[in-house]
Amino acid sequence: MQDIVYSEKAKALQATAREIADKYVRPNAAKFDKAQEYNYDAAKACGEAGLFGTFIPEEYGGNGAGVLALALVVEELAKADSGFGVAFAVNALGSFPIILGGTEEQKKEWLPKIAKGEKMVAFCLSEKYAGSDAQGLSVRAIDDGDHWIICGEKKWTTNGGVADYYSVFAVTDPESKSRRISAIVVEKGTPGFEVKKVEDKMGIRCVPVVETHFDHVRVPKSNLIGGRAGMGFKHAMMTLDYARPGVAAQAVGAAQGALDLATVYSNRRKQFGAPISSHQMVQAMLADGATATCAARQLVHASAAGIDSGGGENISKMAAMAKLFATDTAMKVATDAVQIFGGYGFMEDYPIAKYFRDAKILQIYEGTNQVQRMVVARHLVREAMNLSHLEEFIPVEEQQTYVEEAELVVNHNT
Ligand code: CAA
Repeated sequence: MQDIVYSEKAKALQATAREIADKYVRPNAAKFDKAQEYNYDAAKACGEAGLFGTFIPEEYGGNGAGVLALALVVEELAKADSGFGVAFAVNALGSFPIILGGTEEQKKEWLPKIAKGEKMVAFCLSEKYAGSDAQGLSVRAIDDGDHWIICGEKKWTTNGGVADYYSVFAVTDPESKSRRISAIVVEKGTPGFEVKKVEDKMGIRCVPVVETHFDHVRVPKSNLIGGRAGMGFKHAMMTLDYARPGVAAQAVGAAQGALDLATVYSNRRKQFGAPISSHQMVQAMLADGATATCAARQLVHASAAGIDSGGGENISKMAAMAKLFATDTAMKVATDAVQIFGGYGFMEDYPIAKYFRDAKILQIYEGTNQVQRMVVARHLVREAMNLSHLEEFIPVEEQQTYVEEAELVVNHNT
């Protein structure tokens, strides 16, 4: 586990995010949710305050404050409106392929504009038939001399239409097993590139989620991230490792926001002659929610701090654990918060129903929680190979089964 140190820079960014959330996000959350409209004023305020630079290194115009600071900022925004939390955080998801895999020229070209909030970014990985199985992509990028020609459709592109840059994952070598996919930046307005369907969603309604269509889109070879074909799947996986603490922070914000509302309401609402906050079964829901949210926050911060300190092998497992635990917590806390609001909680006049609707997607996007469990379990099974000193404590028959089964799982997963 990484020691968690909150830098002055990170704390200042967190305070700024809280001010923007109070002024631009929370007061308008219901309006934008209902209308399914993007909160441009809040995004502009984030840009002017330098928040989009939080996760971008200083040499490319950012604050260089790292993933832990990103988590602090996202939590504040998501506490006010989980939809706006992802509208902000998805810019990090779209930028990480460039930050982690881009060439020096590419970083200098794209990152300063993202840091200033002049350009928004989206991440185009998922397709209709390739969600959890991210290697099963079918969007094709065909080599045409100085250009790639991209054809096909992407699904569930968050920020689609609002974003100016799209990190698109496409098949460049269909014959290759391990180097099939490449990441290419496509700019809004490139002929043949269109947003075709804006989804009508259960939650996070203030941020567009769309289908992006590519009809023979010609993109210069210089937009191939890293300048080398075949690195796309690795870039996607590394990106998700870096971005998952952000979505987990969104979940912590959503959980805290729901819990705060439920606590305030429970003090006000009287039944049986007393505020419901004095009833033990309500107290249990509040206490369990607060405990789980606090635990989720610690896990998110530890995973983010691990990334900021260079991380190593462990970051993938920690990011998956943070995403898994925090998003399951958000769903549970939002469900109990609705319960505390009772019949009013089910009505859209009250703010809590939105927290419940917004929470569900957290368990699905940036890798379903089933995928997170798979990532964590694969790490555990591999790490268990270093625990051979425990074998002497397991009776022989059992021990054989244990080793054979572990080998079976490892062989299956490699
Ligand atoms: N970092 C670097 N490389 C990695 C890696 C990681 N974390 N994980 C895997 N790789 C490498 C492996 O080493 C392997 O490399 P070689 O071919 O060189 O050996 C290669 O990638 C393939 O690895 P796996 O065999 O483990 O891959 P897999 O097909 O079994 O898939 C998976 C693994 C974890 C299930 C992966 O497909 C996955 O994460 N799926 C979920 C996708 C996802 O999260 N989608 C969300 C889209 S974004 C979104 O939802 C956001 C939004 O709109 C807001």
